[in-house]
Amino acid sequence: MTDIPLFVTSLAPYNDRLAEAITRVIPTRRFILGPEVEAFEREFADYLGVRHCVGVANGTDALTIALRALGIKAGDEVVVPSFTFYATAEATIMAGATPVFCDIDLDTFCVTSDTVRAALTPRTKAIVPVHLFGNVAPVPQLREFGLPILEDAAQAAGGELDGIKAGALGDAATFSFFPSKNLPCLGDGGAVTTNDDGIAERVRLLRFHGSKDKSTFTEVGYNSRLDELQAAALRVLLPELDDWNERRRRAASTYERLGLGEHAVLPRPVDGAKHVYHLYVVRANDLPVGRRYYRVPVHRQPAIAATVTLPATEEAARTNVALPMGTHLTEEQIRTVVAACGSGST
Ligand SMILES: Cc1ncc(COP(=O)(O)O)c(C=O)c1O
Repeated sequence: MTDIPLFVTSLAPYNDRLAEAITRVIPTRRFILGPEVEAFEREFADYLGVRHCVGVANGTDALTIALRALGIKAGDEVVVPSFTFYATAEATIMAGATPVFCDIDLDTFCVTSDTVRAALTPRTKAIVPVHLFGNVAPVPQLREFGLPILEDAAQAAGGELDGIKAGALGDAATFSFFPSKNLPCLGDGGAVTTNDDGIAERVRLLRFHGSKDKSTFTEVGYNSRLDELQAAALRVLLPELDDWNERRRRAASTYERLGLGEHAVLPRPVDGAKHVYHLYVVRANDLPVGRRYYRVPVHRQPAIAATVTLPATEEAARTNVALPMGTHLTEEQIRTVVAACGSGST
């Protein structure tokens, strides 16, 4: 065993700048939908290379609202992976639709066009590929189905596929700024991104109770805004994202260089993907370190209980192990983890 934490990331160097940003907002008394949110939305959209970013309260609401903005309604089916965080499917149900679970590619932990194809029915109205663990799902390959694609990019801020940012690949995409994510805020936060003016407008409407002018309510929506304090914090941290992701990628190559591959199957980026290693997840039957994620995949959760056979999902749930990762992981710590894996693997 080692005492190295799973998330080796520190915001300590940014304490002063975060405090300054918050101190700037407090006297303005504008805490909801003000200039900080507007500026962050512009800055994050520019960073991703998309026309629109709309800040919402968290990554789960982002998914529900984006699905509704894409036109998903009761009776529709949406294809989602089962090997993901529960919220991907939960949000689909909250949007009124039925999640239909597809399998993944075991080496990348992401959906493929073959796994999605197997889950399609005449009622399928959208596909939600998840950029799991910071890998980037092969979104362009899913275009062959002619269905709207919503990227769940909660775990992949800054990731890329063939030079295009995760979040700019689908018809819309969703992000979470939960504190453990690659781009964190200081609480809950999320966003929807899109190049489509109509989708962006509907997301803006839905995040404010289905109203454009705060007096006429044309839809039943949500109270789901990114707040000014979180947006101010995100504006401090966004410029650091590329450097942080570079550090994560360096840590991943160090694991490889120090021989972790002798004890476990290492994560493989999707072809053309710039993986951003939100988590560093290997596969092994037995390691004395790390944590297993999604050990009961979503389709077998009590609230869902879907009858479907997903062999790669089951295998991933049984054998995945997340090892320490983060912006401040040292070579020495990586060496310790690799040595621990070597001492206990079967
Ligand atoms: C893949 C995925 N989708 C959605 C979410 C939901 O985000 P949030 O916790 O901000 O609601 C998360 C994160 O927790 C996630 O990892």
